[in-house]
Amino acid sequence: MEKLYADHRRNFGDFEAIDFVDEKEIAALRAKLDVAVPIDLQWTWDYSSQVEELRNLYEKGKQGQWNAETDVDWSQPFPLDEWFMPRQGALLLPSLLTMMGADEATCKEAALDEFAHLLSQLLHGEQAALQLCGQLTNACPTMDAKFYAGSQVIDEVRHVEVISKFIDRKIGRFYPIDPTLKVLLDKLLEAPTWKVKTLGMQTLFEGMAVGIFDTIAKGTSNPLLKDIVRRVQIDESRHAAFGILSMRQVVADSSPEEMIEMEDFAFNILETLNANQQLDMLRAIGPKYGLDPDTVVQMMLALPEWPALNSEIFMHTVVPNLTRLGLITERTEEQYRKIGVLHGAKYDIAVARVH
Ligand SMILES: [Fe+2]
Ligand SMILES: [Fe+2]
Repeated sequence: MEKLYADHRRNFGDFEAIDFVDEKEIAALRAKLDVAVPIDLQWTWDYSSQVEELRNLYEKGKQGQWNAETDVDWSQPFPLDEWFMPRQGALLLPSLLTMMGADEATCKEAALDEFAHLLSQLLHGEQAALQLCGQLTNACPTMDAKFYAGSQVIDEVRHVEVISKFIDRKIGRFYPIDPTLKVLLDKLLEAPTWKVKTLGMQTLFEGMAVGIFDTIAKGTSNPLLKDIVRRVQIDESRHAAFGILSMRQVVADSSPEEMIEMEDFAFNILETLNANQQLDMLRAIGPKYGLDPDTVVQMMLALPEWPALNSEIFMHTVVPNLTRLGLITERTEEQYRKIGVLHGAKYDIAVARVH
């Protein structure tokens, strides 16, 4: 499988990054609202439950519903001039600016900007989750999966609702979609079969979401933000569980060729996500704070602890889940290590695999 966006790649030492610099091209990517999506719709006449665990998850999903308007206490403040995340360690820009001796007000402003950018990207991701999950209600062949995907659609609607309201009511700053993320989300939405759609959405996408939301929930000191993120995170863990349950079946039913297709698809998506190294964010915000995107990326890549830092979000959920499903194998493990997505001897690939 060919790497995504081969013509946007350039090397920082031996790291191959994806970089979008042409404003016109970025604008064109954002303006591309139509995506041709192949869907093989499947009827089923079997209304009984095939996979009890999946029906249980659907029951849990129904019980776990919450109302983004009335269950969240929106009267709680999110003061824009207070730290809501630690000054160092959680967000890139305030950490760097603090190291460079910038004053506190500048660091706070940069933290808010970077967080607004991150939340905006999460919001665009939630919209993609909503669209893709809708596809799954059509494409999945079993009634269990249709039930669950249907219940997940309303979860994703709620996530779009709650994050856009938080941005609108509390932050007041919103960023358009990053070009790399747009390419990637289009790729997930365009995935050709329900198996690859399920892998893309439920394992890769949800796995990343669980890692990111957990990091924010643990890091933030603001009660409103913590409450919202925790609520979303509980839903996302259920979605990731759906991914594992349905992917276990997919893996069991797949031919060796299909397995290779899914392994490569998973690698390509995560490789693309990782290859950007926040360059899109740095190009959007860095210059405002005197930070040159290239210099920042070079500096990060040169840190001895870079593989540990870089892999943290991937190692949270998505890499362990892929490994358990047998979708990171001896064939691809080294590639994951080389790009800093898989790191350390947390588990043995051969032992962790589920057959
Ligand atoms: Fe979501
Ligand atoms: Fe989700």
